[in-house]
Amino acid sequence: MRPAIRAARAEDLPELVALDEVCFGSEAWSAGAWVDEFERLSEDRVILVADEGRVVGYAVLLVPPVLEDVVEVLRVAVTPAERRTGIGGQLMVMALDRCAGRTVLLEVAASNESAIGLYRGFGFGEISRRRGYYGGGEDAVIMRWREET
Ligand SMILES: CC(C)(COP(=O)(O)OP(=O)(O)OC[C@H]1O[C@@H](n2cnc3c(N)ncnc32)[C@H](O)[C@@H]1OP(=O)(O)O)[C@@H](O)C(=O)NCCC(=O)NCCS
Repeated sequence: MRPAIRAARAEDLPELVALDEVCFGSEAWSAGAWVDEFERLSEDRVILVADEGRVVGYAVLLVPPVLEDVVEVLRVAVTPAERRTGIGGQLMVMALDRCAGRTVLLEVAASNESAIGLYRGFGFGEISRRRGYYGGGEDAVIMRWREET
């Protein structure tokens, strides 16, 4: 079954909090942080969910209202049992659809091969690094995407 990708609704909140915990462990956002993300939906946040009757993946973007400002991909995650079935790609297609004509940036841990593989597949390229940015001294890779014109 292919999930439907749709905008998040308030009732998705508990499932998002739980899935974020599964996907990011100690780096997960708290329930309060997720509430803050939802409160910014009318301002500059876009939250997409992959819906199979339950939430199996999600993406969170910071999309400033000023078109010249860069978009940031803050989170993309898929439930472990359904990884490598194309759901992350489906989320990225919908996310980048919102980003026509804009520059998109993201940061990802240098060892996160699955995420870097996903982003490279969509044309993101490394533009810089933050040395020792993450706990344990791991580098953050900064990647950029711009729509081909
Ligand atoms: C990164 C993540 C979202 C990818 O989701 P996914 O649904 O498994 O991705 P897809 O199945 O759509 O894969 C798309 C492409 O990404 C790349 N990719 C995905 N997983 C990969 C892996 N483990 N190793 C290498 N490349 C990988 C591949 O190019 C893949 O295409 P292919 O399967 O045709 O080779 C998922 O692994 C995840 O939730 N990781 C934990 C959360 C996380 O670290 N998020 C990123 C930081 S916010």
